Amino acid sequence: MKKTKRQWITDLVPGMQVNILLAVMKIELAKTRSGNDYLKLVLVDKTGSVEGRVWDKELSLELYNTIKQDQVVEVMGEVVDYNGLEQLHIFECKKVAADFYNIEDFVSRTNRDITKMKAELMQIISSIENKEILSYLKNIFLGDFFEIFSTSVGGRLIHHNYLGGLLEHTIEVAGYCSLIYQLQGQHFNRDILIAGAILHDIGKVFEYDKNSITFNITDKAKMLGGHIILGRDFIRQKLPSNFSTEIQEHLEHLILSHHGKKEWGAVVEPQTLEAIALHQADLVSARVNQASLLIEKSKDCHDWTEYDRYLQRSLKLYPKDSIS
Ligand SMILES: [Fe+2]
Ligand SMILES: [Fe+2]
Repeated sequence: MKKTKRQWITDLVPGMQVNILLAVMKIELAKTRSGNDYLKLVLVDKTGSVEGRVWDKELSLELYNTIKQDQVVEVMGEVVDYNGLEQLHIFECKKVAADFYNIEDFVSRTNRDITKMKAELMQIISSIENKEILSYLKNIFLGDFFEIFSTSVGGRLIHHNYLGGLLEHTIEVAGYCSLIYQLQGQHFNRDILIAGAILHDIGKVFEYDKNSITFNITDKAKMLGGHIILGRDFIRQKLPSNFSTEIQEHLEHLILSHHGKKEWGAVVEPQTLEAIALHQADLVSARVNQASLLIEKSKDCHDWTEYDRYLQRSLKLYPKDSIS
C-alpha cells in the first residue's frame, strides 16, 4: 500500500477516491435485475461500517472465491452517494497479510474502565435481597467466566459493538430497571427485575467470537440459536438443584421475551410487568448507545450527523454549550 495518510470510514465522502484498509464483515454474491452477478459487502474499521459493491462480473466472481469474511482487505474504489448513504464502488480488492495491519484499527473497545464496571456490576448484584437469587448470581459472576463476560461484545453492528460492550450494556439496563422500580415500582418484584437485567444478554458471551476481527457469529449460535436460547440454556445449567421453580421460570421468561416482539427475535412476548420493564430498559440502552456512537463518529460534521442506516436518520447536532 502506498504511504499516504490513513483513511478511515468516517472520512469517506461521495466523490472521494479511496485506498483503504477494511475488514470484511459480510460478503455475498447477488444478481442485478438484468441477471448479472455482483458482489455486496459490508466493510468495517474501528470508526464504523460501509456497504461496498463490485459491479464488474469477473471481479465479483474472483473476489467471492478468494476473499472471506473476517479478512482484512486493501480496497481501491470510489465513494458514491446511494439514496443519501455512502457506498463504496470497488475497482480492486486485495487480501492483506496479518503482519501489515494493526488489529486495533478494526476492533474497538469500551471507553469505560472495565475493572470499575465489574465492581459496579457486583454492587448491583449485592443489592438483591432474595438469598437464593443473590447466591445464584454470585456463583455465575466470578472467576474465568466473569473475565470472559467483561470483555465480551454487546453486538456486531448495531449497539455496544465493542469489547466490554456487553458489560457496559448490562450495567445500563440494570440501572434503567432500577430507576423504573424507584419511580413506578409498587407492583414489581425488584430482585427478579434486576436479576433479569443482569442475565438478559448473557448468551452473547457464546454468540459472538470476540477473537475474530468482525466478531463472527459462533458455530454454536448458528446451530443452536442466538443469545436468547444460549442464555436460557446457560442459566438453566447454572441452577442449583433446589432452586425455586417459580423464580427459574420468571427469569427464563425475562430472557426469552426481552426483545419485546417476535419479529424482533423474542421467543415469547413479555407477559409480566418485570418483562415489560426489562424490554423497555433494554431498548433505551441500545438506542441511546446507537445515537451516541453516531455522534462520536460525526466529530467532523456540522449541523447534522451522517445518515445512519440502522437508526434510519441523521441527528441534528448542537454544540454542547449552546444552551445555557
Ligand atoms: Fe438481547
Ligand atoms: Fe440487551
